[in-house]
Amino acid sequence: MTQAILAINGGAPTRTAMLPYGRQFVDDQDVQAVIEVLRSEWLTTGPRVAEFESAFAQFAGAKYAIAVSSGTAALHAAAFAAGIGPDDEVITTPMTFAATANCVRYQGGTVVFADVRHDTLNLDSAKVETSITSKTKAVITVDYTGQPSDLDELQAVASRRRLTTIEDASHALGATYRGRQVGALADLTTFSLHPVKHITTGEGGMVTTDDPELAARLRRFRTHGITSEFREREREGSWFYEMTELGFNYRLTDLQSALGLSQLRKLPDWIVRRRWIAECYSEAFSALPEIEIPMVLRDREPAWHLYVIRLNLDRLRSGRAEIFRALRAENIGVNVHYIPIPWHPYYRALGYKKGAWPVAEGAYERMISLPIFPAMTDTDVEDVVTAVKKVVGHFRK
Ligand SMILES: Cc1ncc(COP(=O)(O)O)c(C=O)c1O
Repeated sequence: MTQAILAINGGAPTRTAMLPYGRQFVDDQDVQAVIEVLRSEWLTTGPRVAEFESAFAQFAGAKYAIAVSSGTAALHAAAFAAGIGPDDEVITTPMTFAATANCVRYQGGTVVFADVRHDTLNLDSAKVETSITSKTKAVITVDYTGQPSDLDELQAVASRRRLTTIEDASHALGATYRGRQVGALADLTTFSLHPVKHITTGEGGMVTTDDPELAARLRRFRTHGITSEFREREREGSWFYEMTELGFNYRLTDLQSALGLSQLRKLPDWIVRRRWIAECYSEAFSALPEIEIPMVLRDREPAWHLYVIRLNLDRLRSGRAEIFRALRAENIGVNVHYIPIPWHPYYRALGYKKGAWPVAEGAYERMISLPIFPAMTDTDVEDVVTAVKKVVGHFRK
């Protein structure tokens, strides 16, 4: 069989328009919901924020949900609520977006990176345990690509050593772990509502918890450390407020919450679609020895924020960089998640050195994220499969 010429070598690309790796899905209902708020009395913290929080808490199976202005703000608020300070160490994964580790730095704490499991690329609880010192205050685990971490094992380690657990579930809204919804499996769970995530508010984030004291601290932190909100004071005809802690303005607006509420109604269908796309890819690529498909553990159902393949480079005539470029030339908007966090110049300047996390670092060299989002058409999915087979076939040894 003659092989098609790769676009990178002057052949016709698999598709004419670039398919991004992730993209929001906004419909007329969403637009209408935002317009209604624009015509209402409250643009920022009004009734829609509380409604969104309550619907989100219900969906995530948590008692409290606190809306904030981004996933990064959610992590910062969680680090604050956990009481992380300059004398504390916090264990987290190198295989994540920078914000997961940065929230520890915002609080002046020290980040300790523990390596990940080879199969899921989630934190390895045995390595977490050996990284604990007398200074360890908390563990921040990340549900990489949307597959829940080993929450029971991590909670067991954390409770033996009296550590707070924070689950960065930015990738995992809608995922389940041993039949339980992600949202109340750790002491604090954070979410991102960025457009590439499962639902969006433009920018936005959420923290969920079952602990009323943590919930109260989170609420104060998002509004300057002040004990009451403007709307409450207006209702009570009062002007008095106190600032008890140093907080920020991390509030989500009513405009954004209206969009979030409208999006949340569609989330169950979108998770089904993400799972279907992941299944199509896994089916199409499982017979290709040049590709390692994502491993899903039997006791959890991922929410598939990302679909990350790992290349078996010993079976290919070129490296990840060239295969990545070839897929982009086919107009498949592949990406890489993630450059290990301690490799970034900011962390290197703090003294972290390459080579200490061989599993995460080894996986990074081989990984490529394929497009996955609910607005993808069946043809888009077929295009990705075709392009991957075409490029891998070309570079096969
Ligand atoms: C794992 C993880 N944590 C935190 C964040 C930060 O979220 P945001 O962009 O909403 O601040 C992201 C966003 O990409 C993420 O992927």
